[in-house]
Amino acid sequence: MRRKRKSNNNTFHPSKALSPLRYPGGKSWLIPNVEKWLTAIKATRRHRLVEPFAGGANVGLAMLARGKVGALTIVELDKRIAAFWKLVLRDPEWLIRAIRNFTPTRKNLAERLGRNARRFRELGFQTLLKNRTSRGGVIAPRAGILKHGERKRGPFSRWYPDTLIKRVKRISELEDKIKLVHGDGLRILRERKKRTNDVYFVDPPYSFSSNGAGRRLYSHYEVPHEDLIKAVKKLRGPFLMTYDNDAAIHALAKKHKLSTSKIQMRSSHHANKKELLISSDLSGIRRKRGHSARARRKSTH
Ligand SMILES: C[S@@+](CC[C@H](N)C(=O)[O-])C[C@H]1O[C@@H](n2cnc3c(N)ncnc32)[C@H](O)[C@@H]1O
Repeated sequence: MRRKRKSNNNTFHPSKALSPLRYPGGKSWLIPNVEKWLTAIKATRRHRLVEPFAGGANVGLAMLARGKVGALTIVELDKRIAAFWKLVLRDPEWLIRAIRNFTPTRKNLAERLGRNARRFRELGFQTLLKNRTSRGGVIAPRAGILKHGERKRGPFSRWYPDTLIKRVKRISELEDKIKLVHGDGLRILRERKKRTNDVYFVDPPYSFSSNGAGRRLYSHYEVPHEDLIKAVKKLRGPFLMTYDNDAAIHALAKKHKLSTSKIQMRSSHHANKKELLISSDLSGIRRKRGHSARARRKSTH
């Protein structure tokens, strides 16, 4: 007899995502854990969640929308991603019109992506277009456009104008609570170290080893990992950091006496991969062993 799999609140369905970007290395699968963590550390609407390596910012947006925190700061170094977020926050109407008015043909795609984007609006829209039509959502310069895609939709397999518009509208409703910084996440962490009402979700690009995925996926992938670990250690507010499960990073975390835990990734492409969590306080994330087969993970505290 087949046993029915228990439904749990530990999974996140991509259709519930708020971010219009489909981000390589995106952490929406971790949303249920971050939510539990925020509850365990007693975060409230008085707190600001800081995401110093924002990318698609799905985690921060979800936590803000669910009222787990009262404000969100997203920091991004890549000028194209930053331009996209600036556009969503400053001129959502322009973006909505651009999405609506774009007729998805290969010719239009090539023309639009080839435009000289001197202003943030055009650059922001091109970023969204490239992200939704490229292989794996990669916007780094060498990334290729989807050839075949799904359901014979070619590069437009992931171009859903109505959904994108809905997400832009939802984010713009939260706009007064969101601060965007186009700059270096490490610098922002150092600047904010004394803040007691901050909590941090830190998801840097991973490039420690020569085959680190960050190199392929992002234009900015060089992060001084030990400096970053030192900076999070100095924060007054609690932080949750996520990394590829790599021995070198693990050793660095241990060297600086931070708690670590390995967690099963829940993205469809990485069913058997683990992610390394590093934190000042892993409350709400560590669970008793043997809780359930799917949630099984090895604690490395
Ligand atoms: C792993 S991705 C973040 C993914 C994000 N958590 C999500 O769920 O979509 C890392 C991001 O950090 C950005 N980045 C790289 N170096 C940075 C820096 N020094 N400061 C701020 N952002 C940086 C990259 O451009 C990339 O968007």
